[in-house]
Amino acid sequence: MQRTLNDLTIRKVRIDDIPDVYKLLTANRPYVGLNSRYTYYLLARDFSDTCIVALDRYRLVAFSSGYVPPSRPDTFFNWEIVVDEKYRGNGLQKKLLLEQLRITRAEYFEGTVNPSNHVSEKNYLAIAEMLGAKCSKSVLFSEEDFDGDGHEAEVLFRIGPISLASIENIVSP
Ligand SMILES: CC(C)(COP(=O)(O)OP(=O)(O)OC[C@H]1O[C@@H](n2cnc3c(N)ncnc32)[C@H](O)[C@@H]1OP(=O)(O)O)[C@@H](O)C(=O)NCCC(=O)NCCS
Repeated sequence: MQRTLNDLTIRKVRIDDIPDVYKLLTANRPYVGLNSRYTYYLLARDFSDTCIVALDRYRLVAFSSGYVPPSRPDTFFNWEIVVDEKYRGNGLQKKLLLEQLRITRAEYFEGTVNPSNHVSEKNYLAIAEMLGAKCSKSVLFSEEDFDGDGHEAEVLFRIGPISLASIENIVSP
């Protein structure tokens, strides 16, 4: 990447972003799940407060979805996150997740990782350390839950409690 993270615009997802979001997800299969376009249009319509994109001028280079579960209003759950290959290795995953924590003012972060995804696991642990928060790990859905279709287990990382001050300090140093 010739430009730095500070050159990117991070903002809430919009309905007209979805064709580019879908292309980005398609290009990164099987590392990230691909659901129907309709799912992403609904996210942009109804969960745009908690789903964000990163843009390099007009080019969409990352997408991170998530929501605040109605039964756990103190928690932000990250569903899918993908960074364009050309923009990787610059800390964008951490930056996006911290931004979603700042937006939601959540006390707990949750996200799942497949056992083979060492990059995301490392980043979750790094986020816990940056925020001075505990991190627990447990199997949320096992391989068997996916009926042997090759889907890896989804291992849940739960980070918290997180103080808002610790997020603000990192997001706006
Ligand atoms: C996982 C992912 C979101 C990480 O995003 P990122 O912003 O590149 O994360 P980081 O900048 O922290 O880089 C993490 C690691 O990627 C590796 N990396 C570095 N440059 C890279 C590049 N150009 N291409 C690929 N990987 C690279 C390095 O191992 C780096 O770790 P290091 O900084 O300790 O050396 C991104 O790799 C991705 O979109 N992967 C495919 C989808 C996916 O796995 N999503 C997560 C589901 S939980």
